[in-house]
Amino acid sequence: MKQIVLSILSNAGGVGKTTLAVHIAYSIVKRGFKVAMIDLDPQRSLDVFCGLQAQESAHTLVNVLSKDFKGDWSCAPAWGESKIDVCQGHPLLAEMANELVIRKRGEYALADRLKSYPLPHNLIILDCPATLGMLNTNALAASTHVLVPVQLEMKAISGSAELVEWMITTADELQLEPKPTILGFVPSMYDEKVAMHRQYLEQLPEIALQLCVKLYPKVRNSNEFKNASAYGQPLQKYRPKHPATKDFQQITDDLVALIKEK
Ligand SMILES: Nc1ncnc2c1ncn2[C@@H]1O[C@H](COP(=O)(O)OP(=O)(O)OP(=O)(O)O)[C@@H](O)[C@H]1O
Ligand SMILES: [Mg+2]
Repeated sequence: MKQIVLSILSNAGGVGKTTLAVHIAYSIVKRGFKVAMIDLDPQRSLDVFCGLQAQESAHTLVNVLSKDFKGDWSCAPAWGESKIDVCQGHPLLAEMANELVIRKRGEYALADRLKSYPLPHNLIILDCPATLGMLNTNALAASTHVLVPVQLEMKAISGSAELVEWMITTADELQLEPKPTILGFVPSMYDEKVAMHRQYLEQLPEIALQLCVKLYPKVRNSNEFKNASAYGQPLQKYRPKHPATKDFQQITDDLVALIKEK
């Protein structure tokens, strides 16, 4: 079995990164694997989505990235599940990002931690902020794979092409070996009643093809996603029979296949 480190990356805010992260995490755990989620967002989005209390920085990723980290990841379990652990975020991650800019191997801080103090999980999901700064560079350097949620709007689609460009250039500059694989684009918050969404969904396969990126089935727009997150739960737990719970099936299958690879 292989450990997969998956970054959920986008250079746009509010496109469904954290939503994708928690729903994939829950699906993979239900398939019998252990999952860790790491919150790289100074706004600590995962706390809300996982129903967790904010933590002192000493019990968050800030500590993991600090110079004197000794290996205590102090993760918190999400949703009362024994197989999901969360390494929580903290506002001080913004300052940590500045410190990493001047630290030796600053771009590789997270990758180095995962190497020196490995987590036992089959899948590690990195929930990233929307800005392509030092934190996302760290995510990329630590990743084996990347998933990109794409909102069905002109700016988001052209932004995703720029993101692919950024990932390729950055992986080159950092001499990542092997380079993280872009697992695919995930059209997010699709509303079939919106003409623009239908139109862009039709155009996406061509764009993905040009960029040599796989296109996953869309995640539909549903207020139940918002309600579930307000209750600090994934939809699969909040409304197990909701049809949108099926929207993560193909991504889950692909990740399970990757985990099972020799
Ligand atoms: N498929 C969906 N249908 C309806 N609402 C959604 C869907 N996906 C996400 N949302 C809602 O949209 C908001 C933004 O989603 P989310 O936090 O996952 O995006 P993000 O890309 O992580 O944002 P940020 O850039 O702030 O980290 C949240 O309120 C979330 O509940
Ligand atoms: Mg987020």
